[in-house]
Amino acid sequence: MNLKEKIIKERIPAHVAIIMDGNGRWARKRGFARTLGHEKGVDAVRETVEAAVELGIGYLTLYAFSTENWNRPKYEIDALMRLLVRSVNKERKTFMDNNIRLMAIGDLRNLPPKSYTELMKAIDDTAVNTGMRLVLALSYSSRWEIVEAARILAGNISKGTLKPEEITQEMFSNLLTTASIPDPELLIRTSGEYRVSNFLLWQIAYCELYFTPTLWPDFSKEEFYRALIDYQSRERRFGMTSEQIRKPKNR
Ligand code: IPE
Ligand code: IPE
Ligand code: MG
Repeated sequence: MNLKEKIIKERIPAHVAIIMDGNGRWARKRGFARTLGHEKGVDAVRETVEAAVELGIGYLTLYAFSTENWNRPKYEIDALMRLLVRSVNKERKTFMDNNIRLMAIGDLRNLPPKSYTELMKAIDDTAVNTGMRLVLALSYSSRWEIVEAARILAGNISKGTLKPEEITQEMFSNLLTTASIPDPELLIRTSGEYRVSNFLLWQIAYCELYFTPTLWPDFSKEEFYRALIDYQSRERRFGMTSEQIRKPKNR
């Protein structure tokens, strides 16, 4: 039985989020510039997207560039932004052929104008598609969006249109950039780092975490299948007891 056949179709997570880490180390290990690692990383993105579509995953969110990544050397940022434009243009046909709708979360106004325009064009063009949502987290950080949401709520309170006690978790969620996106059920991080950095901190409550030492450019469909099989072997309890989960009527 191959790995793909071991995946239980009825228990595919609706939303998988991935922290694509390790491009720089992948390149350095081979004596290449870090930017080559990013280029190779695009191939891994293509494989992963293809696998996600084949499996019928509803939402795939990819952490492509963090707010903190703006602190990297300028040449690396420029290369990443150029790569973004090139990849979005190159993959447009794949998106259309596979019914993929492209979305983006993050402080997109910070992107260079060309990257922003091309990204928006691809988002508009694919808005008619009804299949998998491919969500790119760009210039994204969780703390940034949480503070933005807090500002909006505080603004409404100072205008008198909202009372502090009226604030609900749902209201807060709806002010995040992920408002229209269900919370991820599986979060994968590559490159052997055991951290979430600044990714979807609010949204990953009760999310299953999967860490692999594989560097992002080496991430493959097989590796993705392994993460899903691992996910499916876990018992998600959401604060309840094991017995309650197994016999829902005794709750
Ligand atoms: C992830 O790979 C890609 C981005 C953060 C843009 P890195 O560039 O962080 O690679 P490492 O972690 O230095 O190996
Ligand atoms: C996380 O990777 C962000 C992205 C993958 C875009 P980083 O390489 O920036 O994270 P840290 O600095 O190792 O936590
Ligand atoms: Mg890194």
